[in-house]
Amino acid sequence: MGLVLADDLLGRGLQRIQREVDEAFDGFLPVPEDARAALVKAMRHAVIGGGKRVRPLLLVTVAQMYGVAREAAIRAACAIEAIHAYSLVHDDLPCMDNDDLRHGKPTVHRAFGEAVAVLAGDALHALAFELLAETNTSADPFVRAELIGCLATASGHKGMAGGQMMDLAADGAQFDLHTVTRLQQLKTGALLGAAVEMGAILGRVPEEGRGPLRAYARDIGLAFQIADDLLDHEGDEAAAGKALRKDAAQGKATFVSLMGPEGARAQAQALGEQAVGHLASHGAEAELLRALARFVVERDR
Ligand code: IPE
Ligand code: IPE
Ligand code: MG
Ligand code: MG
Ligand code: MG
Repeated sequence: MGLVLADDLLGRGLQRIQREVDEAFDGFLPVPEDARAALVKAMRHAVIGGGKRVRPLLLVTVAQMYGVAREAAIRAACAIEAIHAYSLVHDDLPCMDNDDLRHGKPTVHRAFGEAVAVLAGDALHALAFELLAETNTSADPFVRAELIGCLATASGHKGMAGGQMMDLAADGAQFDLHTVTRLQQLKTGALLGAAVEMGAILGRVPEEGRGPLRAYARDIGLAFQIADDLLDHEGDEAAAGKALRKDAAQGKATFVSLMGPEGARAQAQALGEQAVGHLASHGAEAELLRALARFVVERDR
C-alpha cells in the first residue's frame, strides 16, 4: 500500500505488519477441497491483501514495548483484525451500507454472493476466538481468558455491534454531539481500545499501569472516526478504496455534520495531540504510537 512516507518509522511499521498479517492469514486459511471452498475463499478475500492494519500495529507495538514475542503478538493481532474484517463484510451488505467496493476490490457479497458473505463474516468472527484460545498465543490460560474476554466485550453489544446499531439509528436522526461521540466510541473506539488493551494483557501490564495507554487509545479512537467522517465528506475514492460521500446523502449524524469540516478537523488534531500527551511517561519505545496518532488524524485512506 503506497503510504505517505514509505521510509519513515511508521511507513516501515505499517508495511511490515501488513506483510506479516497477510502471511499469517494465508497460513490460517488453507482452502479446503470440499464444498466449503467458497466460504474460505471469501474469508481470504476479506482478510488478505487490504486494509491499513492499524489495529494489528497498535496491538503489536504495545506488546513489544513490554517484551512480548512478536509471533504471539501477531496471532492476537490477527484475531482483532478478523473481527474488524468481519465487521466490514457485514457493514457492506445490502441490508446495511450496500457498498460495492472495499480495499479497492469488490466487496465480499459482490464477489461471492450475499449468503456466502454472511457466513464468511460469521466464520471470521469465530476464527478470532479460536486464535486467542490456542496455546501459541499465550501459554498462560489466564492471559488467554483475559484476551478473549476483552475482545468479546469490544465486539458485541457493549462495543462494535452496539455502535453499529446506533449508527443505523443515526440515519436522518437529530443526534447531538454527545450521542454521536458515544456512537463512535462504540462503533470504532471499542476495537481500537481493545487492540491497545490486548497488547497490554499479553505484556502482563498490571491494571494500574494501563491508564495512560487507555487514555491514548480513547483519544485516537475518536480521532480515527472523525478522520473517517472527514474522508467520507472530502476524501478521494481511489485512495480510500471505498465509496465515499454516503453519510450526507443518508442524512447521517456525524462529527462533520455536527461540527462542520473545519471544526471536525480541529477536533481530530486536538485529540491526536492529546493522545501523544498521554504517552509522556514513555520513552523512545512508544515513538511508533506517537507516529500512529499523527497518521490517524492526517490519513487519506
Ligand atoms: C474503517 O476502518 C471502518 C471504521 C471503523 C471507521 P479502517 O479505516 O481501519 O479500515 P481498513 O481495514 O484500513 O480498510
Ligand atoms: C463501519 O463504519 C464501522 C464498522 C464496520 C464497525 P462505516 O460504515 O463508516 O465504515 P466505512 O466508511 O464503510 O469503512
Ligand atoms: Mg456503516
Ligand atoms: Mg460502511
Ligand atoms: Mg465511514
